[in-house]
Amino acid sequence: MWDELYFRALERVKGALPRIKGVLLAYNTNIDAIKYLNPQDLEDRIEKAGKEKVFRCSEELPEKIIEVPHLLGGILWSIKRGKAAELFVESRGVREYMKHWGWDELRMGGQVGIMANLLGGVYGIPVIAHVPQISKLQAELFKDGPIYVPKVENGVLKFVHPKEFSRDEESLTHYIYEFPRGFEVFGIKAPRENRFIGSADDYNPNLYIRSEFEENFEKIAEGVQLAIISGLQALTKENYTQPFEEIERHLEILNEKGIPVHLEFAFTPDETVRKKLVDILGKFTSVGLNEVELASVMDVMGEKKLAERLIAHDPVDPIAVVDAMIKLAEVTGIQRIHFHTYGYYIALTSYRGEYVKDSLLFAALAAATKAKLGDVRNLDDIGKALDVPVNEKAADIEDRLKKEFNLDNGIAVVNESQLSFVPTKIVAKPKSTVGIGDTISSSAFVSEFALRAAL
Ligand code: AMP
Ligand code: GLC
Repeated sequence: MWDELYFRALERVKGALPRIKGVLLAYNTNIDAIKYLNPQDLEDRIEKAGKEKVFRCSEELPEKIIEVPHLLGGILWSIKRGKAAELFVESRGVREYMKHWGWDELRMGGQVGIMANLLGGVYGIPVIAHVPQISKLQAELFKDGPIYVPKVENGVLKFVHPKEFSRDEESLTHYIYEFPRGFEVFGIKAPRENRFIGSADDYNPNLYIRSEFEENFEKIAEGVQLAIISGLQALTKENYTQPFEEIERHLEILNEKGIPVHLEFAFTPDETVRKKLVDILGKFTSVGLNEVELASVMDVMGEKKLAERLIAHDPVDPIAVVDAMIKLAEVTGIQRIHFHTYGYYIALTSYRGEYVKDSLLFAALAAATKAKLGDVRNLDDIGKALDVPVNEKAADIEDRLKKEFNLDNGIAVVNESQLSFVPTKIVAKPKSTVGIGDTISSSAFVSEFALRAAL
């Protein structure tokens, strides 16, 4: 059944995408320097930096990276658990160390950068992107297509492709250390493929907002139909106040204009910031998150038991997911929650329609393509993902939802809201893992509104 639904969803979405005339993407863009880890090399580096200290750092993540053992300990922390983590690299010395260690591939990074290349470069939808620093290298990583950044020349606001911005600003590099499932050092084995990120970047972690955006936000918003906000995850209780004021101002403008806004909720370690995000969630139309992120939200909402249930099982318990989504919708009033995990997605929407499910199916094809190739090059690539098998464990998940909520053909009605479920396609040996979540959330949000516009 699902193969047929996948095929039909792809056809429908492809036909509908041209209906979206503009998407605003703010705020984080950077360069990802991807290193595929080698076990021998990593063991040698750990020995050299001091095995004992590195192992200590791998027990509990340090707040930020000040010395090499923090970096190597962080990498080991991720390998041990098969979980992603990201730390700010404060020390110039460690930044040099990472630069000398090198990379295998340079890629577009940051939620905004990744989504701009996908929506603008692949789906052909005009996007306006916030890029904190446009270095030559950063600009070159943008695909050709309708991707724009605001530029003010002699007091006049223009929109140009980042390659035409022609001011060489700083390069903001995030070093991504990727490892496959089963990767092993000193007898420690990765239960799942994942990555550790060290960000050598003084702009994105502080949510630096360019003057072009601050001064012209109203005009920038005039040209778009949808907005996606991301990059709030590295803020802390010490520095969040000012950026949040600016974000709330932007949200007010977008709300006044009736522009639906999606929040891409990356893992936000600071509890104060996370609480504040829950407080303002009602100003967004939509939010996208995975199980760790949803659990962290339940945690600050005082739902500790629910938070534990969300991370206790693999695959994630779908009943816990739905309970948490309902709580979040009740408390914040947000209309759309899109949950994604390894093997399935669920959306809870205050409105009803088959198109919600179709957009999730399309997103799963885009995700499988990104996992397989590391990049989505064009819509034909996405079509090839139809051959990737549907996750077999998802049948049990679907059965549980059928029993609990009368799920029928992937759709149920719960508390007046619609619950849409899709089993996803899982690529057995993914090229890399970074940016798949962004691919899923932006594809689903934008294609859902494209399908709605076609009704
Ligand atoms: P995030 O943790 O937000 O970056 O998102 C990662 C998401 O990517 C997971 O929730 C899965 O839905 C998806 N994913 C991860 N690995 C694969 C894979 N090998 N094939 C397809 N989808 C994947
Ligand atoms: C975070 C990282 C960035 C990466 C992105 C992928 O924003 O800082 O380096 O590209 O996540 O989702």
